[in-house]
Amino acid sequence: MKLQLEQIKSNAIVDLQNVKTQQDIENFRVKYLGKKSALTSILKQMGTLSVEERPKMGQLSNEVRTFLLENINLKSNELQQIELSKKLQGEKLDVTLPGKNYSLGKKHPTSLILDEVSSIFLGMGFSIVEGPEIESDYYNFEALNLSKNHPARDTQDTFYIDENTLLRTQTSSVQIRTMQKQKPPIRIISPGKVYRSDEVDATHSPVFNQIEGLVVDKGVTFSDLKGTLETFLRHLYGDDIVMRFRPHHFPYTEPSAELDLQCFSCHGKGCRLCKGEGFIEVLGCGMVHPKVLQNCNIDPNVYSGFAFGVGLERIAMRRYKIDDLRLFYENDNRFLNQF
Ligand code: DAH
Repeated sequence: MKLQLEQIKSNAIVDLQNVKTQQDIENFRVKYLGKKSALTSILKQMGTLSVEERPKMGQLSNEVRTFLLENINLKSNELQQIELSKKLQGEKLDVTLPGKNYSLGKKHPTSLILDEVSSIFLGMGFSIVEGPEIESDYYNFEALNLSKNHPARDTQDTFYIDENTLLRTQTSSVQIRTMQKQKPPIRIISPGKVYRSDEVDATHSPVFNQIEGLVVDKGVTFSDLKGTLETFLRHLYGDDIVMRFRPHHFPYTEPSAELDLQCFSCHGKGCRLCKGEGFIEVLGCGMVHPKVLQNCNIDPNVYSGFAFGVGLERIAMRRYKIDDLRLFYENDNRFLNQF
């Protein structure tokens, strides 16, 4: 029996050298410690030994068993270590590689100016309302007192989807939508894109941005309009601006005016930029026409209001001293990175 046990041990030493995988370990364990293993059958025979022999053989077979268990553990740890380092090798991070350069975007100048204009009007108690860019003829023209054959439509030719559906030419359509939904007091601005079938040049684009303003309440007068616009422009451009209101015609306001600012380039002397005028037109405005109020079921004998519409790019051009509208749409990084 002693010989048998020694044989088991020396066989195991040879076999251990071929154990390379977890499966090999399992096979080894079954072979040497399983139910059908030589060691198990020796242990079963212990009872047949004499009283003197039994403890000796018992001790010896325990030693062999411990030897086998220890080696199984050892191999198993060894294999786990090898697998771990293989895995680590595969996931190795080369910290000396150059990093990826993520370039952070920033706001476009028209967004910057919109933020600025919005915060000025929010500070005066206005709220911001948006309207659809695909608009019906009714909201874009008809309800604003621009009937089908009105000559003022000529200056605002646009892109038609069908006879009654078009890309809006002005954010003034939002006035009507707001007044139909909301009763006075109303104090809103409405920024957004507008469309006209204009050729692209330094001052025209078929798509550009406007901001519409509308105030309706009891007792609103032209001096409220002047005060509001003056506050707005002084906030934006500083206290040294020179303004002038020039009489004009818009079908949806009466009286109507255009607001000009003294040319920032020649300070009123007249130059190429202001076409010798000394002033540059900034926005259109006026007192909301009684018929427009009526179209929205607001009684013009009780309420009055003022409205204005301003081109966002035009405001940005003066603010940032830009002399060509096209720069806003070309997405040239040399231009955009300056903001
Ligand atoms: N809708 C005009 C335009 O696009 C601007 C404008 C003028 C808006 C007078 C108004 C206004 O609300 O009262 O040229």
